[in-house]
Amino acid sequence: MRLCLKKASLTCLSGLRRGNRGSGVPPTLNLCRESQLPTLRFHLTGTKYSCGSGGCGACTVMVSRYDPKTKKIHHYPVTACLVPICSLHGAAVTTVEGVGSMKTRLHPVQERLAKCHGTQCGFCSPGMVMSIYTLLRNHPEPTPEQITEALGGNLCRCTGYRPIVESGKTFCESTVCQMKGSGKCCMDQEENISEVPFVFCFVEMCTKLYNEDEFQPFDPTQEPVFPPELIRMAEDPNKRRLTFRGKRTTWITPVNLNDLLELKTSFPEAPIIMGNTAVGPSIKFRDEFHPVFISPLGLQELYFVDSTDDGTRGYSLAQLNDALHFIVSEQPKEKTKTYHALLKHLRTLAGAQIRNMATLGGHVVSRPNYSDLNPILAAGNATINLISKEGKRQIPLDGRFLEKSPEANLKSEETVLSVYILHSTQWHFVSGLRIAQRQENAFAIVNAGMSVKFEDGTDTIKELQMFYGSVGPTVVSASKTCQQLIGRKWNDQMLSDACRLVLDEIYIPPDAEGGMVEYRRTLIISLLFKFYLKVRRGLNKMDPHKFPDIPEKFVSALEDFPIETPQGIQMFQCVDPHQPPQDPVGHPVMHQSAIKHTTGEAVFVDDMPPISQELFLAVVTSTRAHAKIILIDTSAALALPGVVDVITAEDVPGDNSYQGEIFYAQNEVICVGQIVCTVAADTYAHAKEAAKKVRIVYEDLEPRIITIEQALEHNSFLSAEKKIEQGDVEQAFKYVDQIIEGKVHVEGQEHFYMETQTILAIPQEEDKEMVCTYVTLGTYLFQEYVAAALNIPRNRIACHTKRAGGAFGGKVSKPALLGAVSAVAGRRHLFISYRTGRPIRFILERGDDMLITAGRHPLLGKYKIGFMNNGVIKAADIEYYINGGCSPDESELVMEFMVLRSENAYYIPNFRCRGRPCKTNLPSNTAFRGFGFPQGIVVGEAYITAVASQCDLTPEQVKEINMYKRTSRTAHKQTFNPEPLRRCWKECLEKSSFSARKLALGCPQPLQSGEAAALVHIYLDGSVLVSHSGCELGQGLHTKMIQVASRELNIPESYIHLSETNTTTVSNATFTAGSMGADINGKAVQNACQILKARLEPVIRKNPRGTWEAWISEAYKESISLSTTGYFKGYQTNMDWKKGEGNAFPYFVYGASCSEVEVDCLTGAHKLLRTDIFMDAAFSINPAVDIGQIEGAFVQGMGFYTIEELKYSPEGVLYSRGPDDYKIPTVTEIPEEFNVTLVRSQNPIAIYSSKGLGEAGMFLGSSVLFAIYDAVAAARRERGLTKTFTLSSPATPELIRMTCVDQFTDMVRLVRRVTLNIL
Ligand SMILES: Cc1cc2nc3c(=O)[nH]c(=O)nc-3n(C[C@H](O)[C@H](O)[C@H](O)COP(=O)(O)OP(=O)(O)OC[C@H]3O[C@@H](n4cnc5c(N)ncnc54)[C@H](O)[C@@H]3O)c2cc1C
Ligand code: FES
Ligand code: FES
Repeated sequence: MRLCLKKASLTCLSGLRRGNRGSGVPPTLNLCRESQLPTLRFHLTGTKYSCGSGGCGACTVMVSRYDPKTKKIHHYPVTACLVPICSLHGAAVTTVEGVGSMKTRLHPVQERLAKCHGTQCGFCSPGMVMSIYTLLRNHPEPTPEQITEALGGNLCRCTGYRPIVESGKTFCESTVCQMKGSGKCCMDQEENISEVPFVFCFVEMCTKLYNEDEFQPFDPTQEPVFPPELIRMAEDPNKRRLTFRGKRTTWITPVNLNDLLELKTSFPEAPIIMGNTAVGPSIKFRDEFHPVFISPLGLQELYFVDSTDDGTRGYSLAQLNDALHFIVSEQPKEKTKTYHALLKHLRTLAGAQIRNMATLGGHVVSRPNYSDLNPILAAGNATINLISKEGKRQIPLDGRFLEKSPEANLKSEETVLSVYILHSTQWHFVSGLRIAQRQENAFAIVNAGMSVKFEDGTDTIKELQMFYGSVGPTVVSASKTCQQLIGRKWNDQMLSDACRLVLDEIYIPPDAEGGMVEYRRTLIISLLFKFYLKVRRGLNKMDPHKFPDIPEKFVSALEDFPIETPQGIQMFQCVDPHQPPQDPVGHPVMHQSAIKHTTGEAVFVDDMPPISQELFLAVVTSTRAHAKIILIDTSAALALPGVVDVITAEDVPGDNSYQGEIFYAQNEVICVGQIVCTVAADTYAHAKEAAKKVRIVYEDLEPRIITIEQALEHNSFLSAEKKIEQGDVEQAFKYVDQIIEGKVHVEGQEHFYMETQTILAIPQEEDKEMVCTYVTLGTYLFQEYVAAALNIPRNRIACHTKRAGGAFGGKVSKPALLGAVSAVAGRRHLFISYRTGRPIRFILERGDDMLITAGRHPLLGKYKIGFMNNGVIKAADIEYYINGGCSPDESELVMEFMVLRSENAYYIPNFRCRGRPCKTNLPSNTAFRGFGFPQGIVVGEAYITAVASQCDLTPEQVKEINMYKRTSRTAHKQTFNPEPLRRCWKECLEKSSFSARKLALGCPQPLQSGEAAALVHIYLDGSVLVSHSGCELGQGLHTKMIQVASRELNIPESYIHLSETNTTTVSNATFTAGSMGADINGKAVQNACQILKARLEPVIRKNPRGTWEAWISEAYKESISLSTTGYFKGYQTNMDWKKGEGNAFPYFVYGASCSEVEVDCLTGAHKLLRTDIFMDAAFSINPAVDIGQIEGAFVQGMGFYTIEELKYSPEGVLYSRGPDDYKIPTVTEIPEEFNVTLVRSQNPIAIYSSKGLGEAGMFLGSSVLFAIYDAVAAARRERGLTKTFTLSSPATPELIRMTCVDQFTDMVRLVRRVTLNIL
C-alpha cells in the first residue's frame, strides 16, 4: 500500500488496503471523522460530516483523475461520505487543507468567502470552498449561473446563501447586473449611498459590506499540479487487477473489460460500484450487506460519451450533461427533444457532487422509483447495451424493464456498457416533467417522461408513451392508456379521455408510502395537461394554420421556473466620519473565525483528536410511543467485538429524571426516539452494530397521544393556561358588524443545524471531576444536568464550548440531556459498580439527531374576530395549543412568549389570548429561533386576511387600519412607542415597488432578558483575553464582543483574543438565546473593560503620550490588577401571569418585509422572485453580522413557512430523518432579488443603542407564505371560488396545488368519469 499525502492534498496510489471494518460497509472516504466511521486517520479537520448520505455537501472534496485516452485531467467535486476509499485508486483527492491555509497561503476562494461574510457558524464553509474551488479548476472565469449550479448540492443553515453566491461571483469575468429595471447596479455599491430620514436628522446609508480591493488576485496557474506518478500509473500498459480484502468484504477493481466480465461471472451477485450513490446509502441506511464489490470505475470501455448520427451514448451523469449540451448546440432542434428533456432534469437532479459521481449505468440499473431520467429515456425509446462473457445484446429501456418484469431484467452476469439515446424526429415530441419539494437536489414528488409521435403532417397519434415516477414502487408505464389513444386527434376530448384513463390505470393505494395520494393523483393528470399544452404549442409552431395555438392564459404553464443567480442590495448606516478609525464599532467587521472556517482550521468537537482510551456511544431508542418496558436484553450486544458496556437507567448514580427530563427510559417509554440505553464500544461502527442487537420487549400502553387534537380530547397538558386580556371581549362581540371564526394549523420545524449534537465527556481520575466539551447555547444547564445525573457538585464539572455548527435554539436543553447520558457512560462508579470510566465521544448521526431532539412546536390556533365593515377590528379571542411532546423542556416558556407576542403589530381594544402546551407521546419539542412567535404570527395574519376578504379590502389596508400608531400599551400593559414600526412599514411600502408585489407584515418582536458576566485579562505584552458567558453559534457574538472591547479599551481588535466559553472562567452563564447575546454580554464586557480602563487611568494620565504596552507595563509595576470580571444583571423585566400584566420585554424590534412569488397552479411549485426587508436595527454594532442574521433567519423562516415538512406516522414515528426527506432551502430557493435595509432608530437601553436581531428575520419569512396565499387566492378567484380559505403553514407544493382547486382536483376528488372541459 502506498498513500501519498501532500500538504493535505491526498493522493491515493496503488495497493491501498483497508481492514478494520467488521460491518461489511465498503470503506468510506471520510477525511474528517476519523473515528465515527472507521476510516483513514489523517487528522484533517476541514472536511465535515453532517448527514452521511450525500445530501448536504459539507464533506465535499475534489477528486482529480487523469484520462489516458484524452490525456486530460478531470477535476470534479464529490461528497466524501459516499466515496469508497478503494475507489480512489489512481485518483488525487484535494481537501480544503490542500487548497490553502492560514499557516501557508490563503486561496482567494477561502479569502473571499470569509471577507464577503459568507460564513457564520462555518460548518458548511469548507464544503462551499471546495465546490467553488473545483469549479474554478475547470472554469477559471465562471458565469454566475455556473456558481449557482456548483453550490446547489451544498446546504447552509445560517447565511441564507446570498453572501456565499456573492463571494463566488467575484470570480466571474463580468458580473452583469440585472437589477430588473431598478436602475441600480448591485456591484456599483459606492453609487448606492443615500440618505434616509432618522427622526429629525438624516442618516447616511452605505451598501458596501466588504472591500473588493482587499482581495488578492486569483491566478489559476498557481494551482498544484496533478501528481505525475498518477499519470504514469494511468498510462501503465501492465496494469493488474486490484483486490482489497477486509474482514468481511472484498473489493475488486478489474483491469479491463474482459476481467470485469470474468469477475461478473464468478460473482454474479456482487454489485458493480460506480458512483456508489445508490449502493452506498443502501448499505448505510438499509443494512444491505455484500461480501464482494466489483469496481470498474475508470475502465475506458465504460466511460464513453459518444455521439453517432442517430443517437448519443453516455455514461457519467456529468459527462452526459456536457455531451448533451454539445449535441443540442450542434444538432437541429427537432432531433434533440429527448436531449432537451434530459438536460432539464439533469440540471436539478441532486447536487453537482452527486451528478459527478453517479453514472447513467448505475442510474438505469438501480431503477429508483423516483428516477428523473428513466421515464424520459423510456419515452425516448432508449436502449441498453449489455455485455457478458456470452456476448453483447441490446435490451429496450421500456416499461417492462422499468417495472422490473423478470423477463426484461439484466442477467446477473451482465454489465451495462452504455445507454443508447435516440434522436427525436420531426413529428415526435418528448418531454420531461417533474415537481419536487424544492427545485434542486430533491427527489421528485411525481415526475414523468412522455412522448408522442404523430402521423406525418397531422395531429393523429401514431405512438404515445407515458411513464411516471414516484407513483408506485417502480417507475410506471401508462401503457394501456397510451394504447387506447392511438389514432386519436390531439385535442381536448383526447386529453379528457386520457386523464380519465390514466387515473384508472395508475392506482396509488390510500396507504401508499410517501402519502400525498390525492396530490400525486392530481399531479398525474396535471403533468399530462402540461405535456398536452407543450405538444399543442409545438404543433402550432410547425403549422400555425393547421394547428391552433393554446390560449394565452395557458402559456405560463409551458415552462418550469428558471433558476436565476440571486442578487441584491444591503443598506445600513454609515459610520460617523468623526469616529476614530481604530474604533471598529459600526463597521461590517468580518466574523472572528471566518478565515478559519474557510480553511477548515476552525475546530469543532468532532474534529478534536482521539483521546487515549476513548469510547464511542451509540443510542438505542424506543420504537414505541407509549409502552411498558418488559425486558432489555443486552447479551447479544455485549458479546460483539469491541463492545465495552451497555448503559441503562439502572446505571445512573444520581437523578435519572431531572426537572421532568428523563435521561434513560425507566420502566416505560413515552415517545418513539426516547433513549432507552446506550452502547459504548471502541469504535462507532462497533457501538452502532451492537446497538442493533439490543432486544427490548414492550407492552403498549394507552393512551397514545400524538396530535394536539388527541391531547385536547384527553385533557393532556404540560402546564397551566397562560392568558393576557384587555377590554371586554364578550361585550365587544355584541356590537361589531361581523364575526368570523377560524382555525389555523402551523406545523413544526427541524433545526437542521449542520453540526449535529456532539459531546466529548472525559472523566478525570481525581475528585470525581468531569471535563465536557460540547456544542451548546447554555453552559450552566449542561453543568446542572450532568451534576444531577452523576450526583456530584457542579464545581467538579468543567464545561467548554468553543463554537457550534449552528444551533437555532436546538442546543439549549438537548445537549444537557445528552450530556447527562454520556457523562453517566463515561463516569467511573467507584463504589457501586464499574462502568466504563473512559472518555466518551458521543456524536449523533443526523437521523438520530432529528429523531431524538425534536424541534419547533406545531401549533393549532383558533380565532374569533369581531370587526366593523370598514376593517377596524374591535375584538379578538385567540386560543393557542402547541404540541410540546412528552416532557416539559421549554414548552411553557415558548407558550408564554407566544401569548405575549400574540397581538403582533395590531392594536385590538378588546383582546384575549390564551394558550397551553399539550403533552403528547412525541419527542419533546424545544426552543427554536423566534420562540413561538413564528407560529403565532400565522394566526394573526390569517385573521387579518380573513377580515380583509370580508370587508373587500386588501390585507395591507386592514393591517394599516389596525396597526399600532402611537405610544400605546400592549395587551399585557407594557408601554411602547411603535414609531420605528411605522417607519419600517412605510419604507417597505415605498421602496419595494409594493404596488407590483405583496407586503407581508410589520411585527414588533420583543426580546427576553437575562444576566451576563465577563472576565477580561490584560497580559504584560498588552494582549487581552476576553471571556464571557455567551456562546458562539455562528451569530458573530465573539466578533461583536471584540468590537466592544476594542472600543472600550481603545486598542485595535488585533490585541484582543476570545478563545471559548467555559464554566471555569464564567460561572452560571445564562443561555445565549432570545437575540440577547450581544446585548447582555456586550454590557458585561463593557463593564469589565471600563473597570480596567478606570484602573489604568492614573497611569495614562502620567504618560498621556505613552503606548498601550507601556501603560500595561507600568500598571503592573504599580501592582494594579490587570484582570477583572464584568457583570450585567440583565434588563429589568417582569410578568405577573396571575394578572396577565407586566413589562415582559426590555424593548421591541420592528420589521417589515415584502415578497413577490410566482405560483404554478398546476403543480403547486412556487418561485420567490423578490424580497425587500426593512428591519429596525437601531444602531448596528456590526452591519455585516446583523444583515447576515436577518438574511439567514429570513431564509430559515421561508423554509419553515413553505417547504420544510416533518412527517410522522399515526403511531408517532418520525419519517423525515435526513436531507433526503426533509428539505431546507438551498441556493435555488432564496429570492432572486434580495434587498435588506437596516432602519435606524434609537434604543438607549442597549449597548451602543443597538438591538438584538438574531431572531427577528425569521418572522419576516412569513411574507412568502402570505404572498403565496395571495397568489392562490387570485387563482381561486379566477376560478370563481370562495373568497376565504385557510392556508396552513407550511405552504408546501401539495397544499398550494390542492388549494388551487380546478377540474383536475375535482376529477381526482369527486368524479371518476367526467368529461373535462379544459380549453
Ligand atoms: C443525495 C442524492 C440525491 C439524489 N437525487 C436524485 C434526484 O434528484 N433524481 C434522481 O433521479 N436520482 C437521484 N439520486 C439517485 C442517483 O441518480 C442514483 O443513485 C445514481 O444515478 C446511481 O448511479 P451510481 O453510479 O452511483 O450507481 P451505483 O450506486 O454505483 O450502482 C447502483 C446499481 O447499479 C448497478 N450498476 C452500476 N453500474 C452498472 C453497470 N455498468 N452494469 C450493470 N450494473 C451496474 C450496481 O450493481 C448497483 O446495483 C440521488 C442520489 C443521492 C445519493
Ligand atoms: S456529510 Fe457528506 S453530503 Fe452530508
Ligand atoms: S455558515 Fe453555513 S451552515 Fe453555518
